[in-house]
Amino acid sequence: MERSNLKTDEELKKRAWRLLEENRRTAVWQGKTYTFTIPSPTHYPFQWFWDSCFHVISLTKLEEIDRAKGEIESLLVWQKPSGEINHIVYYWDQAKMKLAPGAWNWLDTKPFLSFIPFSPKPKTSALIQPPVLAQAVERIFQKSHDRQWLKEIFPKIAHYYRWLTVTRDPDRDGLISIIAPYESGLDQSPAYDRAAPNGRGILFLDKLFCYRMPLIDRWGQFLVEDVLMNSILGKNLRVLAQLAQELKKPEEAREFGKQANRVTQALLAKCWDEEGGMFWNLDGREERSAKIKTIISLMPLILEDLPKDIAHRLVQEHLTNPQEFWTNYPITSVAANEETFTVDDNPKVDSGLWRGPTWVATNWFLSKGLEQHGFAKEARFLADKTKELVLRGGFREYYDPFTGEPGQHSALNFGWSTLVVDL
Ligand code: GLC
Repeated sequence: MERSNLKTDEELKKRAWRLLEENRRTAVWQGKTYTFTIPSPTHYPFQWFWDSCFHVISLTKLEEIDRAKGEIESLLVWQKPSGEINHIVYYWDQAKMKLAPGAWNWLDTKPFLSFIPFSPKPKTSALIQPPVLAQAVERIFQKSHDRQWLKEIFPKIAHYYRWLTVTRDPDRDGLISIIAPYESGLDQSPAYDRAAPNGRGILFLDKLFCYRMPLIDRWGQFLVEDVLMNSILGKNLRVLAQLAQELKKPEEAREFGKQANRVTQALLAKCWDEEGGMFWNLDGREERSAKIKTIISLMPLILEDLPKDIAHRLVQEHLTNPQEFWTNYPITSVAANEETFTVDDNPKVDSGLWRGPTWVATNWFLSKGLEQHGFAKEARFLADKTKELVLRGGFREYYDPFTGEPGQHSALNFGWSTLVVDL
């Protein structure tokens, strides 16, 4: 590596460490102290599921192994007996945070009467987020070689993935469904415009169904087999199989390996569009393809068993196409030639998140995907551009894909943008 690159990397590591330290919080629950990292003090003051997994990846890179373990443990303490783990842990009361009532923990949670002052407040949401948990645990193990810790954690994460692949796959086709756009973590992506013209309205309906999957499956308005969610699931089931192997659990290694193959096969059979050279989300029980070119459609690139010819088409026709995703500061969250593409993030006109700007987490996933499928040059370019975004604009939530400026309304001190230390 060149000297200047080394210096840049050292500088980014220093800044990342400082940010993760500033966003570190502790909370006491049932007599035990938990330590975790909030995504951003300006916008997101609780613990979020996939953000925490990304924080683990940065923390292990910074040799903060105990903190990384803490991040996982503070999530797992909220695991339901069914295996489910939800997307936000409200370690403290929203009212104390001076947030608009109902901003998160009324609509996102099961109880109906929790808005009444002094009533008990729910501690977790009822939604999920992309299952990056196995990858996070794998990183901790790779760095620490702490087999004892892995042994303790493994049954809990296996239980979680079993819950996901059973409860969230009501039609048993190998693809899990999300019940609100927020579950994919790509909140207002235009990929959901048809199925969810109003995301909050969908949450309200889910709440009326008490967030119960059999009811939502039957009568709900939003049930999407999402390509990003399933690509991350497939990748993580593969990792889980490797972790099982590590622990000498051959049966579980086989079980999760088979499940991982099944996800790739289902994505190819049901979401791949040979003509368009893209993967599409499937909406509703009738599984209508949502043909909107967003970053969601590129995510199968993270699967190692994606056939080479398909990986090539995704990269050559779309990912590195300057008319679509490969702008000055790639990768746009929506193809630049889509009608809905915008870099305007003004909440007053409700343009919403994930409708154009570039985000670090998706760049992190896809630069690994590019590398794995033999696009080393493109992967390097993407990694360098992403570092440049952060060096220039700081750790922000998202960036303008043409100018590289941070989004005007994007969160400050944004935790997962520290993933640049792993690029
Ligand atoms: C935004 C993102 C979501 C993330 C959350 C907390 O809502 O869209 O993916 O988890 O912020 O950072």
